[in-house]
Amino acid sequence: MGEFDSKSVIVTGGALGIGGAASEAFAHEGASVTILDWNLEAGDEIVARITSAGGTAQFVHGDAGTSKGCRSTVDAAVKEHGGVDIVFNNVGIQPPDSYVDAVELPEETWDKIISVNLKSRFLMAKYSVPHMRKAGGGVIISSASVQGLQSMGGVSAYAASKGGDLSLMRQMSLDFASDNIRVVCVNPGAIDTPLVRNAIAGTGGNLEDELLATGKAHPLGRIGQPEDIANMVLFLASDKASFITGSYFNVDGGLMALGAWASTVGSEGSG
Ligand SMILES: NC(=O)c1ccc[n+]([C@@H]2O[C@H](COP(=O)([O-])OP(=O)(O)OC[C@H]3O[C@@H](n4cnc5c(N)ncnc54)[C@H](O)[C@@H]3O)[C@@H](O)[C@H]2O)c1
Repeated sequence: MGEFDSKSVIVTGGALGIGGAASEAFAHEGASVTILDWNLEAGDEIVARITSAGGTAQFVHGDAGTSKGCRSTVDAAVKEHGGVDIVFNNVGIQPPDSYVDAVELPEETWDKIISVNLKSRFLMAKYSVPHMRKAGGGVIISSASVQGLQSMGGVSAYAASKGGDLSLMRQMSLDFASDNIRVVCVNPGAIDTPLVRNAIAGTGGNLEDELLATGKAHPLGRIGQPEDIANMVLFLASDKASFITGSYFNVDGGLMALGAWASTVGSEGSG
């Protein structure tokens, strides 16, 4: 018996990274998983892996930043898995060439990041909530980011998308509370995924050195693993979290506990 037996779960950007870990973890716990991803090869591979381990999964090849991609994913979940109980809005992009200020950022890059990272949340709610209502409830979880809470230079579109994700989560939690639909966010710190590895590659830095340095910036002294986020997502999706809605949860090795002065005064504290 798995914790998510008979549940239909959608994971957007569910083929690799954090989404991949969550897709496999949900399937391991008995869920029927519908994975939306634009990476055809990775999507086919993860479905084959889940199926050969005895799980249930299907792949929808599409763009989560479009109405067509989101609607066809919900339709596939309803058709093959009988409805939609849980949506993990995980998809997100931070292209290496987007690390510039707002003056330098091409308008098309802004539009793309906002569509994939934020509009996809609206679209998935638009198409999945009617099915959740019919079933008497559901859970919507998004991968926002610590960058929705604090910021750094050169990430205007990404930061805006993540702040928007947190705000939309709070808002939708109110709209859908009376439908017994819970809406929450998880804020990862740095997690070792293709997104982070590509970002490091974009800077021309040494990959292993940069991963180590990134880990050291976290009070727990290591970079996170996709499973660290998947564990929290499964908890939030479960009945153990049945009184939780409208909140975010940092899974960041203590990063958000650091004061703004931490990098200047070191571990002896600020007085
Ligand atoms: N990795 C981190 O350190 C970190 C930190 C904070 C927040 N996050 C957030 O967590 C989420 C997952 O990040 P990740 O690091 O696993 O990313 P990733 O790039 O490693 O994986 C993302 C997945 O989404 C897919 N994808 C990208 N754009 C798509 C689109 N338009 N349509 C369909 N599929 C698409 C990719 O093919 C890939 O399978 C994102 O929302 C990201 O912003 C990540």
